Amino acid sequence: MSNSLFRRKSISNILNEGADDVHGSGGLKRVLTVKDLTFFGIAAILGAGSFSSLGGAVFNGGPGVVILFIITGIACAFTAFCYSDFASRIPVAGSAYTYAYASFGELFAWIIGWALIMEYSIGNIYVAYSWSDYFTSFLSKLNIHIPAYLSTSYMEAKHAIAAGSSNEELLSAWNNAPQLGGLKIILDLPALIINILITGLVYRGIKESRNFSNLMVILKLGVVLLIIAVGGYLVFANDLTANWMPANNKGVTSFMPNGFSGVMAAVAGVFFAYIGFDAVSVLAEESKDPQRDLPRGMIYSLVICTVIYILLTLVLTGAVNYQKFEGVGDPLAFIFEEQNLHVGWMQFLVAIIAVVAMTSVLLVFQMGQPRIWMTMSRDGLMPPAFSKIHPKFNTPSFSTIVTGLVVGLPILFTDKTFVLDFTSIATLFAFVLVCGGVLLLPKKEKVAGHFHLPYLNAAYIFPAVIIAAIAILLYSDDHYFASLFDFNATDANVTYKVSTLIFWGLCILLAIGAFIKKWSLIPLMGLVTCLYLLTGMTAMNWAWFGSWLAIGLAFYLLYGRKHSKLAV
Ligand code: ALA
Repeated sequence: MSNSLFRRKSISNILNEGADDVHGSGGLKRVLTVKDLTFFGIAAILGAGSFSSLGGAVFNGGPGVVILFIITGIACAFTAFCYSDFASRIPVAGSAYTYAYASFGELFAWIIGWALIMEYSIGNIYVAYSWSDYFTSFLSKLNIHIPAYLSTSYMEAKHAIAAGSSNEELLSAWNNAPQLGGLKIILDLPALIINILITGLVYRGIKESRNFSNLMVILKLGVVLLIIAVGGYLVFANDLTANWMPANNKGVTSFMPNGFSGVMAAVAGVFFAYIGFDAVSVLAEESKDPQRDLPRGMIYSLVICTVIYILLTLVLTGAVNYQKFEGVGDPLAFIFEEQNLHVGWMQFLVAIIAVVAMTSVLLVFQMGQPRIWMTMSRDGLMPPAFSKIHPKFNTPSFSTIVTGLVVGLPILFTDKTFVLDFTSIATLFAFVLVCGGVLLLPKKEKVAGHFHLPYLNAAYIFPAVIIAAIAILLYSDDHYFASLFDFNATDANVTYKVSTLIFWGLCILLAIGAFIKKWSLIPLMGLVTCLYLLTGMTAMNWAWFGSWLAIGLAFYLLYGRKHSKLAV
């Protein structure tokens, strides 16, 4: 017992608490196999990122976005190894939150739990909005039209008017909305309804959710493979391969028509496409053999999705010139439109399956959030109601309902861009803490059948990697570092430059730490790649995220610190 902000839970205590039957009602049901976990990973990963924001990514970076998918895939793979190491040591629900409790102590655990609300709940708001976009466009193909003011978020319409947008749908939502006491009634009704349905399904129980989720994954994998097969065939049959070396605005042909900076401009969308593999770790208490299966489920789903993203990007950019993707929100259907590959039945199929794909993402995240709260509540950091298990359905019932509200209410007053930025920054932040946490863990013995993170001594390799990276940057642009110092307060890139300088400073400190402490290479690479992706965040993202953390800190000091099971 201690009064320290950094009091830690021992791994043996966490495991005892997570054991079946400790919390009454028999705990959660252990029904999930490695196949289910892999399916859950794919269910969470493949969604709005590939079906929706891929269009913008391709428009920015051209075919070269493939490279970004590979880089981000590698960053996520390092992180997945770290999650796997934690998950095999601490196989209980709670994910990164629990891992931080064992490595950094209570304050960091709280911060990470608080940040994960962004990934799980706020991320789901983005997916719900995207679901609604596809659902309404699917209905319109059936000649069923929902008024724009009932399928648009209030803030999006308001911002569009303020910015003088010419988007017809947003203008129609604003101009035709009924008014109540001067307030325009504009809301995204399909997004709200899907949230209520998903909350109900998750409340009912894991078995029902699992069956539903597996079916959806099979459907979306099927259609994505069909897109790759049909689209890929037509790229070659129609002799469109020249699209892979398109000309940019200056007439120069290249795989990266806007250069590497064009590719990097797509980071947020590409990273969002990968979020989800970590959600598998919250199902520890429902897995039959979590120490063996959680790591496999995470890594299998990540590898499968990386291959799919690479192929999808190649098909998309082969089928249609990258410049035509400007403002395209449904890129996978778009390539089959009349002016492109002209395959009508594929357009229809993709529209239906996009709705399915988004539904499965919603389902997985909506299941993850209550399980994290449940674990935090068991530790005394959240009120006891959050760990209440439903006597009949064996699900964390109260937390599930609160999650439904946390996703549902902001649908009324946020918009896509805002929630996407929040989700990305918080998720990267959580990944950084997980990778850093693994560095602090003691070495563990190999146990047959359990995942074991290989130890590769980073003492020489990591400093060599950093020195090589700096040398390559200077070789390609000898003003690289000088340009980072060259800014003033009005410089639009000031946040990027400051965060990049901080990034390089941290790299040097980490290289020294690796040399002295002989850290393990894999978590170190995870840490540094995620830190690099964080340099893409704007000042506004940091301001909102900082405010959110401040609110969380106040909550912790006023409630969690006193009620913690570790309190004196
Ligand atoms: N990766 C998930 C998606 O793309 C969040 O929808």
